Amino acid sequence: MNMMNLKEIKEFLSGKDDNTLFHEADKVRLQIFGKDVYIRGIIEFSNMCREDCLYCGLRKSNRKLKRYQLTMEEILEGVELAGMNNIKTIVLQSGDDLSYNKEFIGKLIEEIKKRLDVVITLSLGERTYDEYAYWREKGAERYLLKIETFDEELYKKMRPGKKLEDRLQRLEWLKELDYEVGSGIIVGLPGQDLDSLTNDLRRLAELDLDMIATGPFIPHPETPLRDYPHGDVNLSIRVIALLRIMNPYSNIPATSALASLHSDAREKGLKAGANVIMPSLTPKRVRLLYNIYPGKNESCQCVIDEINYIKGIIEKAGYIPSDSKGYSPRRLYA
Ligand code: 5AD
Repeated sequence: MNMMNLKEIKEFLSGKDDNTLFHEADKVRLQIFGKDVYIRGIIEFSNMCREDCLYCGLRKSNRKLKRYQLTMEEILEGVELAGMNNIKTIVLQSGDDLSYNKEFIGKLIEEIKKRLDVVITLSLGERTYDEYAYWREKGAERYLLKIETFDEELYKKMRPGKKLEDRLQRLEWLKELDYEVGSGIIVGLPGQDLDSLTNDLRRLAELDLDMIATGPFIPHPETPLRDYPHGDVNLSIRVIALLRIMNPYSNIPATSALASLHSDAREKGLKAGANVIMPSLTPKRVRLLYNIYPGKNESCQCVIDEINYIKGIIEKAGYIPSDSKGYSPRRLYA
C-alpha cells in the first residue's frame, strides 16, 4: 500500500473507504513508533511578518492585529517551562520577522543549549543559506518550512510576490545543511481541488521529509479569504492517513488547526497516523495574539494547562505521551 498510485490516492481522498484507510495508517504508525506520541513545545515569539499571505492572520496588511515581539529573556522563560515539564523538543516559531537577526537567533540557540538538554527546531520562514548554516552550526537540528501548496498558480495567488521554486530551493538547502527538514500543506485552500491535493501528496513523498504537517484552511476575518469555506476536517484526516502510509518514517503532527474546527479532531488525527503534537508554550500575555487563524491558542490560557490538556488528548486517543526527543526514524532506516 506504500506505493499508492495517483488514482488510489484520489479515491481515498474522496472518502472511498475511510475505515480501511485509517486502520492501515494506524498499523503503519504502530510498526514504526508504537504507541508513543512525541510532544514538541512551541514558542511563538513574534507575530510580526513582512509577508502578505492571503490565508494568514499575521499578514502584514492586517493592521488590526496588535503586534508583539518577545525579548531573549521572555523566550528563555518559555524554554524553562519546557524544561520543567520534561519537554525535549523546543520549536521556535515567528512570522517572517527579520528583526531577529542571525546573531540574535544564534545566541538564543546557544543559551537554550547551555540550560537544557533539548532539541531545537526553527520555524522562522525564508532566510538566507548563510543564516541557516550558522544556526545549524550553533546547534539547531530541525527546520520547518511549509510549502502550503505545490500548485504554482495557486501558490502565486496565495503568497503574493513569492515563488514556489524559491521555497523548494530552501528545503534543498536545509537538507544539504543536515537539518531534519519538515514541510507541509494546507488542506482546502480556496481554489484547491482533489487533483491538486493528490499531486501535493505525491510531491511531499518525493521530498523525503523528516516531518510533514497538514491542517485544514480556516478563514480569518481580517484577510481577503474571510468569506471562503473552511477546509474539511475529514479530508484533513484522510490526508494525514495517506501521508503516514506514503511516508512511514516521517514525524507527522496532529496540528492545532484541526483542533480549531473540532475539539476532538486532533484525537482523530492521532488515530489515523499522526504521532506528534505541539502544545504552545507561548506566554499567556501574548498567546492569543499569535492569531494565524481564528481559534488558535484558545483552548488553554496558560502553559501548564495546555501541556496537561495535550497529554489528556493523547491518553484519550489510546496512546502514550513520550518524553523522547523523537529524532527522525527516517534517518535510521531509510
Ligand atoms: N488556516 C489554516 N492554516 C493556516 N496557516 C496559516 N494560515 C492558516 C489558515 N488560515 C498555517 C500555514 C503556516 C502555519 C504556521 O499555519 O501552513 O505555515
